[in-house]
Amino acid sequence: MATNSLNLLLLLLITLHCTTTTTLAQAPAPAPSGPTNVTKILEKAGQFTTLIRLMKVTQLGDQINTQLNNSNQGMTIFAPTDNAFSSLKPGTLNSLSDQQKVSLLQFHVVPTYLTNSQLQTVSNPLRTQAGDTASNKFPLNVTTSGNQVNVSTGVTDTTVSNSIYTDGTLAVYQVDQVLLPMSLFGPSAPAPAPEPLKKKKSGVDDDAPAAGDGGASADASGGVVFNGNLGGLAVGVVGMVAMFFL
Ligand SMILES: *[C@@H]1O[C@H](CO)[C@@H](O)[C@H](O)[C@H]1NC(C)=O
Ligand SMILES: *[C@@H]1O[C@H](CO)[C@@H](O)[C@H](O)[C@H]1NC(C)=O
Ligand SMILES: *[C@@H]1O[C@H](CO)[C@@H](O)[C@H](O)[C@H]1NC(C)=O
Ligand SMILES: *[C@@H]1O[C@H](CO)[C@@H](O)[C@H](O)[C@H]1NC(C)=O
Repeated sequence: MATNSLNLLLLLLITLHCTTTTTLAQAPAPAPSGPTNVTKILEKAGQFTTLIRLMKVTQLGDQINTQLNNSNQGMTIFAPTDNAFSSLKPGTLNSLSDQQKVSLLQFHVVPTYLTNSQLQTVSNPLRTQAGDTASNKFPLNVTTSGNQVNVSTGVTDTTVSNSIYTDGTLAVYQVDQVLLPMSLFGPSAPAPAPEPLKKKKSGVDDDAPAAGDGGASADASGGVVFNGNLGGLAVGVVGMVAMFFL
């Protein structure tokens, strides 16, 4: 009996939590002072320095800003955290050509604005700015399980852990892993990944661990996911407390 009411309460709270999240996600933009500047948005959010640097190097940041200013389709960005980049195998980014870096970044950008709930109902595969969604190219799927939204590439499967920014035109969602496309990292990819040690003795700088990539820390990603869940729980609890005081 008591357990049943507790379950009911929990259900109510979860519903409340979802509603709150959605409401927050659709909050209007802070004062529209000039055109949208995605770099500024990411800077403000913190923990996206690698992504910002890559956007600068590839000039994708400028492209996104221009596109946002000139189209009414809007845009959705999956933003990997600095942790996401540093948990890649060392040298991963450096093993990519400039064009491949552009593709990798474009793969994180969807040329339409997707709210939280639209994200959960899009049809797969989702077309990104990297283009071709064929199974060995740049397919990106969104899968939903309860309250959890995942994006999967065939190589990477990760949770959309947070909505960082949304203004009705641009949505930025945090992901805790870099979305690796099949085209570059799948089984039939042109092996950009570090090769077996024996093959290259004194090769070019390809195999040198990149300073910018940071070292891999195996337990980082697991910890992040766990923290994300705890974070959701904490918000729920806060919601509960808030409800009782309202
Ligand atoms: C966007 O913001 C960044 C960081 O705040 C700044 O360096 C850059 O000049 C801005 N770009 C434009 C076009 O305003
Ligand atoms: C944004 O678009 C407006 C109108 O199309 C244009 O006048 C303006 O120069 C654009 N600004 C940028 C930074 O592209
Ligand atoms: C993505 O979804 C499509 C359509 O449902 C499916 O054919 C494909 O196998 C999925 N790919 C992955 C990596 O889940
Ligand atoms: C979502 O991704 C996480 C890893 O980040 C995985 O543990 C979980 O099983 C995935 N969920 C679904 C529904 O694919």
